[in-house]
Amino acid sequence: MKINIEDIKEKGFFDISIDKSVDLIKEINNLKKEKNAVILGHYYQTEEIQDISDFIGDSLQLSQEAAKTNADIIVFAGVHFMAETAKILSPSKKVLVPDIKAGCSLADSVPAVKFKKFIDKHPDHVVISYINTTAEIKAMTDIICTSSNAVQIVNSLPKDQKIIFAPDRNLGNYINSITGRNMVVWDGACHVHEKFSVEKIIDLKNAHPDAKILAHPECKKPVLLLADFIGSTAAILKFSSQDDTKKYIIATESGIIHQMQKKNPQKIFIPAPPNDSTCACNDCNFMKLNTLKKLYICMKYEVPEIILDKELIEKAVIPIKRMLELSGK
Ligand code: 13P
Ligand code: SF4
Repeated sequence: MKINIEDIKEKGFFDISIDKSVDLIKEINNLKKEKNAVILGHYYQTEEIQDISDFIGDSLQLSQEAAKTNADIIVFAGVHFMAETAKILSPSKKVLVPDIKAGCSLADSVPAVKFKKFIDKHPDHVVISYINTTAEIKAMTDIICTSSNAVQIVNSLPKDQKIIFAPDRNLGNYINSITGRNMVVWDGACHVHEKFSVEKIIDLKNAHPDAKILAHPECKKPVLLLADFIGSTAAILKFSSQDDTKKYIIATESGIIHQMQKKNPQKIFIPAPPNDSTCACNDCNFMKLNTLKKLYICMKYEVPEIILDKELIEKAVIPIKRMLELSGK
């Protein structure tokens, strides 16, 4: 079959019709074995993609897995910057994404040219960037972090070290507030975490006073002030399993609830609602671009593939490896 690259660029994936009788789950499992491929799935993927993934995790866990896998092909069921990070860490491997248009509003909020000027304005600052950035931004960064290790990474620097933190203003301000630092924070945000409704969360809490509110640090300050626990996706998941409360209101992308419910079938998880919808859930439209059909096509035809310039990889890998080393300590 001829692959039309223009078609992939325009549509985000390689679109072919598949007979309804095809058992996608069986075929994907066969392709994994046949091609020695590993599927790395983020917690924000659909339930069926989470269930067929070989490893499921947050962005830190998935980057750690990408760095050490023995597979020949990494299929990244997540968004573009995550697959790019896998390629940077394992450049000799083929890295595929089910839909190349699965981007990230947070990564988009920091354009490379503007960021370069910003760094030049603050010459004596160490640059810490969130993993939710493009390879170009990573190449301008001193240390990468994720929401799981951001506080640890910031605290690894001397107290008087000046720091630029990019791109999430909510996470940056939250870290400033708990570490007593005064990092210069880039003014970016994630469209999913920014739009939780404070009013609707208060209504939910009034309706369920026995529920604890768990929030991701990318949420706005008023939401964080309501939270009983603030943490990365993996930290929230862990908390919900170890804590003895029976009910939780979850202020992060609703995909994580699938794992919470699997680990704690007796507990109740209520998604916190966004402010612009009648829907109770708050989904990342980029994460949810990936489907089982796209995953199957991507594994069968080995497209779309992440291709990165060698020089860019050599620069971008340095701050990611620093993060992995510091995280391992
Ligand atoms: P985690 O680092 O918690 O996986 O978050 C990734 C992300 O995209 C948050 O919105
Ligand atoms: Fe990016 Fe937000 Fe989606 Fe995470 S939830 S991938 S930060 S847009």
